[in-house]
Amino acid sequence: MARECNTVGVVGLGTMGAGIVEVFARNGVPVVAVEIDQTALDRGRANLTASTDRAVARGKLDPADRDALHARVTFAVGLAALSEVDLVVEAVPERLDLKQRLLAALDQACKPDAILATNTSSLSVTEIAVATSRPERVVGLHFFNPAPVMKLVEVVRTVVTDPAVVADVEALCRRLGKVGVTLGDRAGFIANWLLFGYLNQAIGMYESRYASREDIDTAMRLGCRLPMGPLALLDLIGLDTAYEVLDTMYRRGGRDRRHAPAPLLRQMVTAGLLGRKSGRGFYTYEAPGSSRLVVDDRTPSAGQPGRAGQQPAARESAGGAVPVRTVGIVGGGPTADHLAAASVAAGHTVVAVAYDGPGTDLAGLAAADLVVETIAGDLATTRALLAALDAACQPAAVLATTTSTLPVVDLAMATGRSEQVLGLHLPAPAPQGDLVEVVRTVRTAPPAVATVAGFCTGLGRTVVTCDDRAGQLVGALLTPYLNDAVRMLEAGYATADDIDAAMTLGCGYPTGPFALIDTLGLDTVLAVQEALYDETREPGLAPAPLLRHLVTAGRLGRHVGHGFRPHPQS
Ligand SMILES: NC(=O)c1ccc[n+]([C@@H]2O[C@H](COP(=O)([O-])OP(=O)(O)OC[C@H]3O[C@@H](n4cnc5c(N)ncnc54)[C@H](O)[C@@H]3O)[C@@H](O)[C@H]2O)c1
Repeated sequence: MARECNTVGVVGLGTMGAGIVEVFARNGVPVVAVEIDQTALDRGRANLTASTDRAVARGKLDPADRDALHARVTFAVGLAALSEVDLVVEAVPERLDLKQRLLAALDQACKPDAILATNTSSLSVTEIAVATSRPERVVGLHFFNPAPVMKLVEVVRTVVTDPAVVADVEALCRRLGKVGVTLGDRAGFIANWLLFGYLNQAIGMYESRYASREDIDTAMRLGCRLPMGPLALLDLIGLDTAYEVLDTMYRRGGRDRRHAPAPLLRQMVTAGLLGRKSGRGFYTYEAPGSSRLVVDDRTPSAGQPGRAGQQPAARESAGGAVPVRTVGIVGGGPTADHLAAASVAAGHTVVAVAYDGPGTDLAGLAAADLVVETIAGDLATTRALLAALDAACQPAAVLATTTSTLPVVDLAMATGRSEQVLGLHLPAPAPQGDLVEVVRTVRTAPPAVATVAGFCTGLGRTVVTCDDRAGQLVGALLTPYLNDAVRMLEAGYATADDIDAAMTLGCGYPTGPFALIDTLGLDTVLAVQEALYDETREPGLAPAPLLRHLVTAGRLGRHVGHGFRPHPQS
């Protein structure tokens, strides 16, 4: 017979704990909210008040309901106040020794049949459970940030968790209006395993100056329609928490180098740059705990208002851009059609050439200021085309390629004007969207970047600039995450439905990885992943065998009627 949790406790009222208190109290569950000392308790109470006041100001919470919510919360220092609760969630910092000590103390402080839950993101729930005399009553209850908003809760059972306890916790999730996905005890569970490799890679890109922080974040927001860019998300999570999560996942999860925390992360944590909670992380905030960004010494064109991501392009346009009057577009697919229509709408003269192969007449492109090739060919074919364009076009013309997989520099070196060759890439998840990646090679001259950035801005696109690496910016960050999801499915840890639900409901992604792979095409995803692996030889980037097998079997995705899921053709 299921037991209802009539009162609960939350220990640790930081980034997550205060939000978890709010979730319980909003849904009619009395909460005992516990901190380590009075200062931390006051801060936790202030976090809760600020959050509920914001909800009232936005019309999402009635003032009377806010007052009732607060009346359900009792604040206390120390664990003694938890003696009568039916369930406790701990949300103290992500350190095994700390959580083990805390769980042992909770075991003493709470009544014998209370359920003890940990909000850990990456530690072993089993190792935490065995610090108590009741490991069968210990579960993981992993909320997502911000807890009042995100619908998902990962319920983690260990090999000794009592199934009745899991059932009680699942029922509690339903009462909270959350979707509970029940999983075994594995580092990072579903969502963090898939999220943190991506976040760490974004730090690496920033650290290596591959692209600016604004461009990395803008690329993922606009290119993949994510609610936040990775560096802004890290600031929200807290860099200390992110460091501990990555470090644990690296040690517990097979020592994949992609989870080894980027050196910059450790340096920032040591320097006290913890993200929003300390007022400074990758970005600078108005005050500790504030979400309001302020201009700092890394803000592009400091002092000028404008959307992030537009500013770098605007800055580059000072660097010798030449006006583009006539645009040549080579190739006959959807990318060519889209670029041609957008160019005409922006007032350019467009010369469109359907490319049939060597021998195609390119004479019409002689007067173009910019020629964009969109043929999606292999390296030899595309190099041959670039050489032919070099011969056909006026010397000042800039040549651009929309390739997703070929190194742009290889194409540039097929011409006699490598400094005027660059990538103009419309990322696949949202090719009709707002974003364009302008890809510079080690040969590209700044005026060519400025010319293409200015042209793309004129088409109404937001421009991000990045170096010539496999996958460019969006593909390099997105595709390994998709590949990791396939590996997780292959390993039998979770179903495609649960993985998709984890990313949409836990992280606010517009689609889950399997729905997205089916839309993009499994062969397309495989090609980018192969390019990434070939470039880096990083074992963690090797394409998932299941992805390769499905491509071989012709299950290429939505457009052929079957990918990871069937898509009946109407
Ligand atoms: N930050 C996120 O986005 C996020 C998301 C999901 C899960 N988590 C997990 O939630 C847990 C907490 O992370 P956070 O980011 O909220 O950390 P945080 O540093 O923001 O907050 C931790 C809080 O715990 C308190 N605390 C420390 N020791 C304590 C003790 N012995 N007794 C009572 N309170 C104590 C601290 O005073 C602090 O307020 C971690 O396990 C983390 O992995 C974090």
